[in-house]
Amino acid sequence: MKKLFGAYIHWPYCLSKCPYCDFASRAESPLDENTLFQAYRRDILFLRTKTSAKTLTSVFFGGGTPSLMSPSLCTRLLNELNAHFPFSSDIEITLEANPDAINLKKMKSFQKVGINRLSLGVQSMTESGLKQLGRRHSLKTALSQIENAQCVFKNINIDLIYARPHQTRSDWQQELETAYALNLPHYSCYQLSIEKGTPFASQKIKPTDDETARTLYLDTHDFMKTKNIRQYEVSNYAKSGFECRHNLTYWLGCDYLGIGPAAHGRLNNLAVQNARTTSQWIKQKPQIETLSETERQTEKLMMHLRLLNVGYPIQGLPEQGLRTAFQNKWIIQKGDKIFPTLEGILMLNSLILLLMPA
Ligand SMILES: C[S@@+](CC[C@H](N)C(=O)[O-])C[C@H]1O[C@@H](n2cnc3c(N)ncnc32)[C@H](O)[C@@H]1O
Ligand code: SF4
Repeated sequence: MKKLFGAYIHWPYCLSKCPYCDFASRAESPLDENTLFQAYRRDILFLRTKTSAKTLTSVFFGGGTPSLMSPSLCTRLLNELNAHFPFSSDIEITLEANPDAINLKKMKSFQKVGINRLSLGVQSMTESGLKQLGRRHSLKTALSQIENAQCVFKNINIDLIYARPHQTRSDWQQELETAYALNLPHYSCYQLSIEKGTPFASQKIKPTDDETARTLYLDTHDFMKTKNIRQYEVSNYAKSGFECRHNLTYWLGCDYLGIGPAAHGRLNNLAVQNARTTSQWIKQKPQIETLSETERQTEKLMMHLRLLNVGYPIQGLPEQGLRTAFQNKWIIQKGDKIFPTLEGILMLNSLILLLMPA
């Protein structure tokens, strides 16, 4: 695989704040796009001084709801990036979109300016699930935007959230069937997590119990496998050749730029972190911290173990930890690499603790 190098651009605004969401996003009117552009540009120019001019293999507009930005701001940002970090000829450029913050016309405009992968936040394939999650859009809207996306893009993902309160195996099976019938090349299926400080946390909303969550996870793996949609990461499933290159950049421990509020990046041993709020970010250039070799190696191990089929070199891993991980059937060995099993993925945090450098 060629060397990956990505750029993440964060858009911090949404139409409303979902009650489960802890991402750096606010339901407020965006600052004017020229002010935003100047701050994004400052980040790009600053990062350019911290690394050599490498070829970008992916760009990811995430949020928040970046489909709210104008296609003209998107073009300006892509041009600016390309001027300082030239794009590879097959670059992957993803835009995250909410079903009620995109339409066919806007999709076509984004496609014209270079977006070639759309990630739609659908979250549930039922009306009741959408209501439970406090989403603004109906299932009908989500389905019609998926249909629109299929007229414009070949490379499409939808995000789904499962292990929602009271969700049963057959409920989720039905949602998976509905999602699969859409014939998409990529699905991200996240277990609902209750994040501190969110309305879901203060309302004491509970996801399904651990045992059900585990069963739903294994069901998802099995369902996708029978459909030839391979699980390649903890929460990600793709038809062959449609794995998200940008996210693989993180998981393979390659370098990436972080641009915009709350964004972070990695450039060799440099950790780059931007201020979380938009008002702070506008005023403040990215902060840089130098990571020790152990910190960087630990991070790479944590990221690699999320991937099911890539493997991590066994050489140098702590012997006692390896023994326990093999005994627990959390890893298998092929050649000189270890691979997490499904059980290992379910116990990922414990597995990482076992294999971390002392
Ligand atoms: C950065 S968010 C933004 C996507 C987009 N704004 C949207 O909501 O459709 C990316 C994804 O993270 C997932 N997510 C966010 N909060 C979550 C939570 N508490 N538990 C599980 N998944 C979550 C959702 O599936 C969401 O689509
Ligand atoms: S889930 Fe998406 S739309 Fe909802 S608040 Fe978070 S980023 Fe915004």
